[in-house]
Amino acid sequence: MQQISRPVTSNQPGLHPRLAERVRKHLRSPNRRPVPDFSRAAFAELARLQEEDPRPLVLDSFCGTGMSTALLAARHPQHRVVGIDRSADRLGRHTAADTPGSGASYHLLRAECEDIWQLIREAGWRVDYHYLLYPNPWPKAAHLQRRIHGHPGFADLVALGGRIELRSNWQTYVEEFGVALLLAGIPGLVRQLPEGPALTRFEAKYRASGHALWQYQGP
Ligand SMILES: C[S@@+](CC[C@H](N)C(=O)[O-])C[C@H]1O[C@@H](n2cnc3c(N)ncnc32)[C@H](O)[C@@H]1O
Repeated sequence: MQQISRPVTSNQPGLHPRLAERVRKHLRSPNRRPVPDFSRAAFAELARLQEEDPRPLVLDSFCGTGMSTALLAARHPQHRVVGIDRSADRLGRHTAADTPGSGASYHLLRAECEDIWQLIREAGWRVDYHYLLYPNPWPKAAHLQRRIHGHPGFADLVALGGRIELRSNWQTYVEEFGVALLLAGIPGLVRQLPEGPALTRFEAKYRASGHALWQYQGP
């Protein structure tokens, strides 16, 4: 049976008042956090794959069970699509039911997304597409620094380039993300996600619960 989920509620009535200050700070000072071994090992695996069979990259950050990773591999058959999630439990629930077409290539990495972004940046690579589908919203105002655009890793995400798409069931999150990227010089569009087949499990759950869904795409 499909789970029903509640809409996001927050003590933050609009865009976070310290958003611009926080984003500018992170864009000024590069992310130099130490990367834990499990993220380094995941990156080494990706580097080995790229050495054996170099392909342009698509990232599916916060991929959960990797449903979107498989679907995106079918959409980008010439690319290597890399799903990243910190949860071994979620990744372990991946099923290959969404079988990509021939030539498609995807891989699931257990790692912190921000670590992989940092290591890709340090390696001097770029990505062609970066999907960020339903990251945890962290709706309490005090948790701005846990949102993608409030985290020091945001500068690495910007440096990786590519066409960026973020989806959320919290409109404010998507608007903040769009403003943050604009501050980084990347224009984009925020709109309500049109109806269509679900790309992720959370998307299916939110649709079934009647939530409005929001999308950022840019540049
Ligand atoms: C709300 S779920 C969305 C999963 C999937 N994208 C979907 O829509 O079905 C958020 C996911 O982000 C993962 N996550 C949260 N913070 C993370 C981080 N810093 N690095 C990697 N994964 C993270 C969680 O384990 C969880 O699977």
